[in-house]
Amino acid sequence: MTTTQEAVTAAERCTPEFRRDPHTVYAHLRTAAPVCPMRPPHGNDTYLITRYDDARAALSDPRLSKDMYGAMDAYRRIFGDSSVALDDNMLNSDAPKHTRLRRLVNSAFTPRRVEALRPRIEEIVRSLLDACPAREPFDLLPAFAFPLPIIVICDLLGVPPEDRSRMQHLSTTVAQTGFGEEAKRAQQQAEGDLHAYFTHLITAKRARPGDDLLSALIAVRDNDDGLTESELVSTAFLLMFAGHKTTAYLIGNAVHHLLSHPAQLRAVREDPELIRAAVEELVRYDGSVESATFRYATEDVEYSGTRIPKGALVQIALSSANRDPQKFDRPDELDVMRPGNAQDAHLGFGHGSHYCLGAPLARMETQLALTRLFERFPGMALAGPAAGPRWLEVPFPAFRGLAELPVVLDPAG
Ligand code: HEM
Repeated sequence: MTTTQEAVTAAERCTPEFRRDPHTVYAHLRTAAPVCPMRPPHGNDTYLITRYDDARAALSDPRLSKDMYGAMDAYRRIFGDSSVALDDNMLNSDAPKHTRLRRLVNSAFTPRRVEALRPRIEEIVRSLLDACPAREPFDLLPAFAFPLPIIVICDLLGVPPEDRSRMQHLSTTVAQTGFGEEAKRAQQQAEGDLHAYFTHLITAKRARPGDDLLSALIAVRDNDDGLTESELVSTAFLLMFAGHKTTAYLIGNAVHHLLSHPAQLRAVREDPELIRAAVEELVRYDGSVESATFRYATEDVEYSGTRIPKGALVQIALSSANRDPQKFDRPDELDVMRPGNAQDAHLGFGHGSHYCLGAPLARMETQLALTRLFERFPGMALAGPAAGPRWLEVPFPAFRGLAELPVVLDPAG
């Protein structure tokens, strides 16, 4: 990477080189153009924020709105016309609506409910690993990293087991679209199907409540307030969508990086208590959410001396902030014993009022998945091409994940 223009183009177009190594591009931009104007294929003027201090401030800047209804034209250009029906949720709203929705959902999605999932997650991890081949190379993503969070989130919401693969397919289609008309059509179709599915499931849960989060969300009351039908459907969708690929890709990235850094893996194996700090470091080093969801400026704002005009979209590169040398020593080194890497140091789960609601669940799933995997298969090794891993192709840097993760669990067995 030589010029700033090349760096901007790489980030704007999400080129294959950028997918392989976004960190070199971000390092260039943090120095040369920390708040850089871009014109990505979705056609909206967008400003990319890459420094840690700017990113952290922008994530909680009330002048940068998450209310998609205010930026309707921009959203239509990116996501097409029909996405509104599922967007009546906290991620797409500002205070006071956001505060209200988050409070109502929090009163059902409690730390106790999350902690109660621990034995079930252990059981899912065990049965998925039981089904993996020990000696032949296979792709760990579809066999382990993807099913684990989808089963957990379906169990949590009360989605019947026979509908899991449909949920996985639909939420994958919603997440994996490009900017073309065909991609938008597929996304809209999947959104319509999810809307119909959750509407139906909510009706069934109203009639016969279960011991699940969706039934609890239906029952939530705060004085006279509760979630409307539209908010319930959108919240169920948000939890499914936000809790699935994010966790799956993090598990994949984490396994890949630990197997590529034997001394780091040894440290985690020798001290199982280290797994908590290790997961935080893995989120910082190469987390699965590369950029926060879009915000748009409701007035002119200024970051690092650059004016972002009213109406522009703002893309906050969490992956870049997490490698900013102004914040982290030796940012490009994976160090599971990094001093002071407390949960709130990195921005991998966001910051401010939209901070990830599911972070405790994501942490627990990832910690258990890594612990049991490496405990059970001490000789596990990467089995991918010598040329290095294949990273996911995405139209804009939202998710950061592997396209495949070939491994052998027990090469000497
Ligand atoms: C929000 C990351 C797993 C539910 C966010 C945000 C980030 C994030 C960065 C903030 C987005 C923004 O400000 O634009 C992650 C990562 C995960 C993960 C890296 C896994 C490794 C989960 C899980 C759930 C979940 C398992 C639920 C079951 C949510 C929700 C929000 C959110 C509901 C919106 C919060 C709000 O707007 O107030 N997540 N997430 N996430 N996440 Fe997660």
